Amino acid sequence: MTGLMDPVKVMKEEVGYKAAGRVESNSIVGLGTGSTTAYAIQSLGDRLQKGELENIIGIPTSFQAEVLAKKYGIPLTTLDGVDRIDIAIDGADEVDPQKNLIKGGGAAHTREKVVDSLAETFIVVVDSGKLVDKLGSTFKLPVEVIPMAVTPVMRSLEKLGGKPELRMGVKKAGPVVTDQGNLVIDVQFESIEDPASLEVKINNLPGVLENGLFVGVADVILVGEIKDGKPVVREI
Ligand code: A5P
Repeated sequence: MTGLMDPVKVMKEEVGYKAAGRVESNSIVGLGTGSTTAYAIQSLGDRLQKGELENIIGIPTSFQAEVLAKKYGIPLTTLDGVDRIDIAIDGADEVDPQKNLIKGGGAAHTREKVVDSLAETFIVVVDSGKLVDKLGSTFKLPVEVIPMAVTPVMRSLEKLGGKPELRMGVKKAGPVVTDQGNLVIDVQFESIEDPASLEVKINNLPGVLENGLFVGVADVILVGEIKDGKPVVREI
């Protein structure tokens, strides 16, 4: 690896390609969102083009995944068109030792949770910087909320011990709007001791569509690392 290459990009690329290598012909594939999964989608397209892979069909988790799949020639369908998902590949913002995740850095966690939870095998692709001992230690928890409920949901999130803030757009005035037309509240928690119970408590608040805690959903974690100057992939 040359000193000019960004190590995080190299790790993401390596792990994305490795995950795409696990997809077999004749499968229905959940296509995740984010910069790491983008490499997996690109690699799936390459494998299809080379004839290494045949007859796969993708279920995108976001507008971004849909655009990338079309760009790389992956046929797409919706959940109404299939009776199963064989494998899903998706990124994460944090991964704890129990394979629980925080997702939603790209505001796509609602659709991601639907698709990733349905997959027979859900492979998470991350660089080593995403591994944490406790969820919430490096990343705020994303919560998708319908617009008219933002203020009461923020108050309720404070009562649950969080510090909520409305996610604002970059190169866009005003808040981030999700693919479903909703808003995202990012919540800083001192420490998330019981992710399973917090996931349920937040989703029970009226007006909340979904939060970014993924508990017991991931089957395999592929971690991209740099060892002796070279990118390697480790499986958890
Ligand atoms: C999208 O909402 C997220 O859940 C992403 O999967 C997550 O933010 C990981 O993104 P990167 O692969 O870009 O780090």
